[in-house]
Amino acid sequence: MDTSAYLRNHIRTVPDWPAPGVQFRDITPLLQDPQVFRVLIDAFVHRYMSRGMRPDVVAGLDARGFILGAVVAYELNVGFVPIRKKGKLPFTTVEETYELEYGSATVELHTDAVKAGDRVLLIDDLIATGGTMMAGKKLLEKLGATVVEGAAIVDLPELGGSGKLRAAGLPLFTLVDFE
Ligand code: PRP
Ligand code: ADE
Repeated sequence: MDTSAYLRNHIRTVPDWPAPGVQFRDITPLLQDPQVFRVLIDAFVHRYMSRGMRPDVVAGLDARGFILGAVVAYELNVGFVPIRKKGKLPFTTVEETYELEYGSATVELHTDAVKAGDRVLLIDDLIATGGTMMAGKKLLEKLGATVVEGAAIVDLPELGGSGKLRAAGLPLFTLVDFE
């Protein structure tokens, strides 16, 4: 089976949402069908179960990264930590502000979410400008952890984010490219 083509067929494109000119790649149809959801999760689990790839912790980016990250962490039998939009986490946090394809945002991470030296897999649904994943990487590094790989379902390579992240030394694993 061509997993990439199969998954691509279950991603819906919504033009001009949430702003004119944005082609929104909606991953909810992938989650809705249990057979497709399993193919999706298994693609990540297969990679990160393999020798030398298993992380100590999975970190998920708010909000769609939580859906994927929590399930992948459960399957890998490692812990899950959420990187949240500002104002949601109750304990002491570190924070980073970054630019999005449409606006700007600040994300936070609990200061005890990871330990120095932890090898972290950072998961989101999509990489556009790369700002969100870069902010997540910086937060984890502030706490002394190492992000061993960034994983996402979708890459939008024309927006330059994945190139920028790789140039900053972050290996990436993505399943579907959209031009
Ligand atoms: C979307 C997406 C990624 C981010 C990618 O999240 O889920 O997290 O944008 O864009 P970037 O590579 O340019 O940073 P969004 O901020 O829309 O939040 P949501 O998951 O809460 O919908
Ligand atoms: N996040 C940033 N850009 C996006 C897009 N084009 N589709 C879905 N999520 C996004």
